[in-house]
Amino acid sequence: MATSRIESYLDWNATAPLRSEAAAAMSEALGRWGNPSSVHRRGRAARQIIERARETVAGLLGDVDPSGVVFVSGGTEANHLALLGAGRERVLVSAVEHDSVRHAVTAAEIIPVDHEGIVDLDALDRLLGADVRPALVSVMYANNETGVIQPIAEVATIARRHGALFHCDAVQAAGKVALEAGAMGADLVTLSAHKIGGLPGVGALVVTGGVDLAPLLRDGLETEIAARAPEAMVLGAAAPRLPNTSAIAMPGVAAETQVVALDLDGVMVSAGAACSSGKVGPSHVLAAMRVDPEIAASTIRVSLGWSSSEAEIDHFLRAWIGLYRRCRGVAEGARAA
Ligand SMILES: Cc1ncc(COP(=O)(O)O)c(C=O)c1O
Repeated sequence: MATSRIESYLDWNATAPLRSEAAAAMSEALGRWGNPSSVHRRGRAARQIIERARETVAGLLGDVDPSGVVFVSGGTEANHLALLGAGRERVLVSAVEHDSVRHAVTAAEIIPVDHEGIVDLDALDRLLGADVRPALVSVMYANNETGVIQPIAEVATIARRHGALFHCDAVQAAGKVALEAGAMGADLVTLSAHKIGGLPGVGALVVTGGVDLAPLLRDGLETEIAARAPEAMVLGAAAPRLPNTSAIAMPGVAAETQVVALDLDGVMVSAGAACSSGKVGPSHVLAAMRVDPEIAASTIRVSLGWSSSEAEIDHFLRAWIGLYRRCRGVAEGARAA
């Protein structure tokens, strides 16, 4: 049977074609290169284009302060930033959330939905009332599989009554229904560009109120290491750093030994600067920082990415702390002998 030559794209919830306006705005922005933090004219021009983009995104949600727009790599990262960055002890998500919400926090509590896919407001109320720890509630505006719209304002009212933050994944709703942050009552709103004719790899978390977001993941890992491995060191700890990178020294244990031991436990990290031959040599970066060569030789690099989960960080911590304790036990035994 001959296949039809007619093409009908009916998968817009997955992704949408790039709009010519978005392509034009992007190409203008690419031409206006410069560091937006610099005060010279190129810096100012680049800053202007970013601020204009912030205003446009804020405009999608009605009357929102543009300074609350945090640009990220898409809806997935925005959801992770909301759920992990808000720093709430409890996270409650509806049973029909997108995987990027459902899987962001391992211990998330599930709010059930009815047979139409609408979140059970009484269950939400009960769940929040049952435990007074600070909470964040995440309920999407509209579902990606069914299009079902949630009673967002009611969810916000219940969350507020219990002192919980409210995050709304509005990825599927933006551009399809009018959004009004004030009416939604959400503290945090997720948006994604490629669902509405923008570029893939672009998204935003819009912070409408006074929520302080912590950079994801890295800081918690370092705090655990400091508490449980007093001899460990984080290099460059006092300097501004990428939010995903930790150079961690386990004094007395060669970095290569750590990498192999961690790999046996299923954890993959690197031992420092691998050169083009694949060999690992002393790090010129740590040498330039005048780090003691023995410490440098015992330093591994842990780098996290957008899909890194709390479970993976726990896995690393268990394996690394286990190794630290075994190695210290061996060292103390040798000293005692
Ligand atoms: C409801 C919902 N949230 C989040 C996402 C993830 O967005 P992104 O592809 O920009 O990471 C999707 C993508 O399908 C979605 O449908």
